[in-house]
Amino acid sequence: MADPVPSPDDASGALRLTLEDGVAWLTLDDPAKKVNTVSSRVMAGFEALLDRIEAEKPRGLVLVSGKPDTFVAGADIEELQGLSDPAEVRALLERGHELCQRIHHLPFPTVAAIHGACLGGGLELALACDLRVATEHPKTKLGLPEVQLGLFPGLGGTQRLPRLIGVASALPLILSGSQVDAKKARRLGIVDATCHPADLRTAALRLVDQGKVKGHGKPRSSFLQKAQNALASVPVAKSIVYSKAREGVMAKTGGHYPAPLKALEVIEEGMSLPLDKALELEAKGFSELVVSPEAKSLMGIFFMKNEVDGRAAALAAKATHDVERAGVLGAGFMGSGIAQVLAYKDIRVELKDRDWPSVGRGLKSCRDLFQGLVRRRKMTPVELTLAMSRIHPAVDYGGFGRLEFVIEAVFEDVALKHKVIQEVEAVTSERLIFASNTSTIPIARLAGGSSRPHNVVGMHFFSPVHKMPLLEVIRHPATSEEALATTVQVGKRMGKTVIVVNDGPGFFTTRVLAPFLNEAAWILTQGAPIEQIDRALTRWGFPVGPIALMDEVGIDIGGHVSRVLLEYFGERIQAPEIFQRLLDDGRTGRKGGKGFYRYENGKKKGVDESVYQLLEWSKSEIADQEIVERCWMQMLNETAHCIEEGIIENPADIDIGVIFGFGFPPFRGGILHEADRLGLAHVVARLDHYADRYGDRLAPAQLLRDMAARGAKFHGDD
Ligand code: NAI
Repeated sequence: MADPVPSPDDASGALRLTLEDGVAWLTLDDPAKKVNTVSSRVMAGFEALLDRIEAEKPRGLVLVSGKPDTFVAGADIEELQGLSDPAEVRALLERGHELCQRIHHLPFPTVAAIHGACLGGGLELALACDLRVATEHPKTKLGLPEVQLGLFPGLGGTQRLPRLIGVASALPLILSGSQVDAKKARRLGIVDATCHPADLRTAALRLVDQGKVKGHGKPRSSFLQKAQNALASVPVAKSIVYSKAREGVMAKTGGHYPAPLKALEVIEEGMSLPLDKALELEAKGFSELVVSPEAKSLMGIFFMKNEVDGRAAALAAKATHDVERAGVLGAGFMGSGIAQVLAYKDIRVELKDRDWPSVGRGLKSCRDLFQGLVRRRKMTPVELTLAMSRIHPAVDYGGFGRLEFVIEAVFEDVALKHKVIQEVEAVTSERLIFASNTSTIPIARLAGGSSRPHNVVGMHFFSPVHKMPLLEVIRHPATSEEALATTVQVGKRMGKTVIVVNDGPGFFTTRVLAPFLNEAAWILTQGAPIEQIDRALTRWGFPVGPIALMDEVGIDIGGHVSRVLLEYFGERIQAPEIFQRLLDDGRTGRKGGKGFYRYENGKKKGVDESVYQLLEWSKSEIADQEIVERCWMQMLNETAHCIEEGIIENPADIDIGVIFGFGFPPFRGGILHEADRLGLAHVVARLDHYADRYGDRLAPAQLLRDMAARGAKFHGDD
């Protein structure tokens, strides 16, 4: 029964208080936001209602969300990004700590009833409660993802989580920002119970009663957690736990991201202090991080991604119908990857190749990918069987008649692609949308072979399809709005971040990657060792160096892309002759077990020294700084050409494209952010310098010169 005296809303409007049978229910439901977040406005509302709750003296307090699928999604990042003074940040955090401590010290049991995303500040609020229950629902995820924004949990998470579940269990969650479902959270001890979503209120009330029985405020750590924490306080064991974690962070981040290292420092020191002192330490560390350039870049990516996703969602909403069945042509590396993701997302697939052995290989790789999901408990064996049953293998077009969407991933050959377009059009209706996964061929050229060019569109996936988050959708001048909207909708359904670009050879991503790889190849021929080139760029923050990347992409494919782009852009995209020499020597890269590097059982083993002989190479000194500048500035230069030609224009699309497409160092915030940070006048001067020494391919694009002359920035004056 609700409180007969209506409870006024708090001043923020984000919280509702009701009293039912002596239990206070505090419902977070911020009408100003799609999801609940923790902000100073919400905190003010909380504080006011806590005064009231204290006065009401209920027998328990339950914190619950009024949003359909989120508990609390985290802190209000817009508010955080706007803060530039560490003292201001610290004051905000101290206020948050005080609020959590007040919840923690309430003289009756407090319970967080969690359904949906319970992340960052949301989980920290829940951790301040005595007990937690979470629903066993796919939307329920718990985690502290702050490191992904260049921060760490600042509302007590670095101190409360290790105290609750043990340092060894808490470190991976805090340092990687990974999320867990309700069952895993229960196993780890983050929540005390799980339930069906329909039972959340009953389960929360049960915990209120249990809280009373157990005695409020006493630590509830399990034997194992107590043992972990006790061990972690023994000097030798302690130093092993933390130094192992530090090594792991360094190996993963190359030291480019201060947040996880700072988190480790704060946890290690904080665990030997009383909680209130430890929280002060956390507030200090967080306030330093939030104004760091890395956090600014990573938060910038968060906003850019929201912007890109928002635009794609608006486009997708224009599609007149949903795609429930799709055809995939080519069950090779890309085709099978595309089919697997479609089936995973509940879309039925006709997977066609030339012959049964090829289809069989494709099906096997789909099954292998699903089995990986089963091993990681992301899928049950029954779901695997169901997902595989959504993929219908074919060697003819018998099942294509009713399809309205087909993606082709056959060999990169214009004549073959024209042939399959015509075959598909012969058996399908006028509405059929034909999407090509070509990586280089202009879509207009492919549409030239179609009787319905308005329904031809580019859908450029990245490999491996199931892992890579980006999808580049390409419209050519005749692509219809419906074809574009439907393609974006399918891409979003597949869980991809979609950028839409205009047509041209190599579109945006392949086109800007090519000069980056070419420049690395030129540097190699000029005498820098392979290891040095790759190391220089991974130290700068790329996940793999450019020479290793050529092995990954395939030297045959790289050579082919190079030839296609050369045909359109001439000398600027000219690569040295090394690809052909390697190919003549039977080197295709990782897939063939032989490239610039040696491979044993698929594992990369050091540089293949015989490459140097093959290239008649001799060493000469080239500084790391030059290697890095020449490579990334060539990528920037080609980006500027793409902007000049109208291939792409939005800075967020560009920065998200290079980060999500091929791992441009996220802490640099994207290629345009990096150029803005250095100043375009500096970039132009460096390119001019290299053009003088090595030729016109390095000459800065006119756009860069003009912007440098005006003192302009790509991302405005932020
Ligand atoms: P792949 O060689 O692994 O697969 C191509 C498949 O097409 C083979 O299974 C082949 O049997 C099949 N095929 C050939 N003719 C066919 C026909 N008439 N009907 C049905 N199937 C036919 O090649 P991959 O790497 O999957 O590339 C496919 C396409 O994706 C190419 O256009 C490539 O440029 C593009 N792409 C490749 C990426 C990569 O990283 N490998 C990345 C992005 C795009």
